[in-house]
Amino acid sequence: MISASAPGKIILFGEHAVVYGRPAIAVPVHEVQSKATISALKESNGGLIFVEAPNIQLSSWMVDLEEDQPLRKAIQQTLEALDIEDFSAFQLRVNSTIPMASGMGSSAAISVAIIRAIALYFGQTLPRELISRIAFEVEKLHHGTPSGIDNTVVAYERPVFFRRGEDPQIITPGEPMIFLIADTGAPAQTVQVVNEVRERWISNESYYEAIFDQISELTILAKRAIASGQIPVIGPLMNQNQVLLEALGVSSPEIRKLVKSAQEAGALGVKLSGAGGGGNVISLIEPSFETAVSNALVEAGAISIISTKVTP
Ligand code: MEV
Repeated sequence: MISASAPGKIILFGEHAVVYGRPAIAVPVHEVQSKATISALKESNGGLIFVEAPNIQLSSWMVDLEEDQPLRKAIQQTLEALDIEDFSAFQLRVNSTIPMASGMGSSAAISVAIIRAIALYFGQTLPRELISRIAFEVEKLHHGTPSGIDNTVVAYERPVFFRRGEDPQIITPGEPMIFLIADTGAPAQTVQVVNEVRERWISNESYYEAIFDQISELTILAKRAIASGQIPVIGPLMNQNQVLLEALGVSSPEIRKLVKSAQEAGALGVKLSGAGGGGNVISLIEPSFETAVSNALVEAGAISIISTKVTP
């Protein structure tokens, strides 16, 4: 039996703007993960794969899945990349503790775990660039026009400064950063929110381009602040990014309530993370404020809180 896993992620700066060619910063969240486990199926015919994913109530032979079913696509693309055509039957089981539709990259993490597990099962390791590229192909099935940041941060498992079409830059934080990830309980409908932003951008390009430029400036400043460990600088940049996300129209009453409560309880910076509309709100905190901010978020309606530390 062979297993491989991949972490969740949060976007610290630049969501949405990244779809329009601006940079964004994302970090892996190792406290949650997707895991793929492969075991041989001795009594079945060669070339068959049985896929089980209890989180999405899926239990089926791969050949019976739709051609564009994301798990099938991930498996097939990996076998192609490994140049494997003939093999004995196996079972692939996928589990994930990453909340779905919450902006934490669960779809990218599931793909990366599957790709790694299949490569390992056949005694190979694939470079992270290729893992990320295969996961990106699968992301297109989920999200239509993904920027590629989710598959990149999940495959690299390091904080990344990402811009479409460029090699990702790894950021080594100068100081550890602690984030509380609070779930609003409302799903983040990535495709829908990304499409809504696109419609608004088409009807008023100059307004949205100006917002994307401002987000881009914050993201570049944040990259420097993170690398040099200037924690007190990062918080206000997150708050400013949240104001711009409000202007983009991707916030919600639930998000606003969590943002306000965490700011009042002493968080250094608070913003939505991912597509918005629902999903998660992230708070950068000093360790001594963890309990106060966490309690305030729960009081304001957060249904769960994950604490994560991004270390140098
Ligand atoms: C999704 O995690 C982040 C968005 O910027 C979409 C994307 O980058 O593909 C909203």
